[in-house]
Amino acid sequence: MDKMIGFIGGGNMAGAMIGGILKSGLAAKEQMIATAKTENTLRSLRERFGITAIADNKEAARQADILFLAVKPYLFGEIISQIKDCVRSETLIISVAAGQTIEKIETAFEKKIRLVRAMPNTPALAGEAMSALCTNENCTEADLADAMAIFNSFGKCEVVPETMMDTVIGVSGSSPAYVYLFIEAMADAAVADGMPRAQAYKFAAQSVLGAAKMVLETKTHPGALKDAVCSPGGTTIEAVAILEQQGLRSAVISAQRACVQKSRDLT
Ligand SMILES: NC(=O)c1ccc[n+]([C@@H]2O[C@H](COP(=O)([O-])OP(=O)(O)OC[C@H]3O[C@@H](n4cnc5c(N)ncnc54)[C@H](OP(=O)(O)O)[C@@H]3O)[C@@H](O)[C@H]2O)c1
Repeated sequence: MDKMIGFIGGGNMAGAMIGGILKSGLAAKEQMIATAKTENTLRSLRERFGITAIADNKEAARQADILFLAVKPYLFGEIISQIKDCVRSETLIISVAAGQTIEKIETAFEKKIRLVRAMPNTPALAGEAMSALCTNENCTEADLADAMAIFNSFGKCEVVPETMMDTVIGVSGSSPAYVYLFIEAMADAAVADGMPRAQAYKFAAQSVLGAAKMVLETKTHPGALKDAVCSPGGTTIEAVAILEQQGLRSAVISAQRACVQKSRDLT
C-alpha cells in the first residue's frame, strides 16, 4: 500500500494495529504517523515502531490518506472539532471506537466524509485480530478494499451491518479479556498441582490456540469437538461436568450480554 496511515490516539488499540501492519509489511514505518496526549506515549511509539509520533492532531490529519480515530469514545467530539478542517474530501476515516455510530461521527464532521466504522481487537499485535467493518454511503469500493487490506494485514475481518456492531464488541472486541481469564484460571490450577508458572501459561495458552484453530480449520461443531475429547468414563468429562454444574456457559452468556448492553448504552 502506498498511502500514508495516520492514527489519532496511540494507545493499546492503535499500538496493536500499528504493530500488526508493520509486521505484515503492508506499510512501512515511514508511511505511519500517530498522535497521543503525553510525551511518554509519543516516545514509546517512536521507540517501539520507529514511526513519526507527534502531539499535533491537525498535522497528522493533514498528512494521512487513511486516518484512524483511536481515542476513547468520550473524546470524539473534541478531537473531531480539532481536525475536521484538516481532513481532505478523499481522506478515508476509520473509527475504531465503541458506541460512536456512523451518524454521530458524520454529524460531528459537519461535512461529507468517507467513513469506515470498525471494531478490531488487540490480538492485532500478534496478527490474529478479529475485526468487523461497516461503511458510510460516501465510501467507494476502493476505500473498502483499502480498509479490508489493512484489517486483513493483522488478522481476519468481515463486513457487517452497523446494527451488529454492539454484538461484535461482545463476541470479539472485548472477548480476549474473557479468554485471558480462562487461560489464567487454567494456569492457576496447573500451578496448584506443582507446574512452574511460565510453563503453565504456555500449556494453557497453546491449548486455547489449538482449540480455536480446530474450530476454524475443521469447521466441525464445537460440541462435536468437545465430545471427541471426552472419552466415556474418562478424565475430561469429569471437568466438563463441573464446568456445567458451576455454570460456565451461562456465566459467559450473561457476561457477554452485559458487555453488549454497555456498548448499546454508550451509543
Ligand atoms: N482496547 C481494546 O481492546 C479495544 C478494542 C476495540 C476498540 N477499541 C477502541 O479503541 C479506542 C482506544 O482505546 P484504547 O484501549 O486504545 O485506549 P487507550 O489505550 O487509553 O488509548 C487512547 C489513546 O488516546 C490518546 N489521547 C488521549 N487524548 C488525546 C488527545 N487529545 N489527542 C490525541 N490523542 C489523545 C492517549 O494518549 P496518552 O497515551 O498520551 O494518554 C492514548 O494514546 C476506543 O475508542 C475503544 O473503544 C479498543
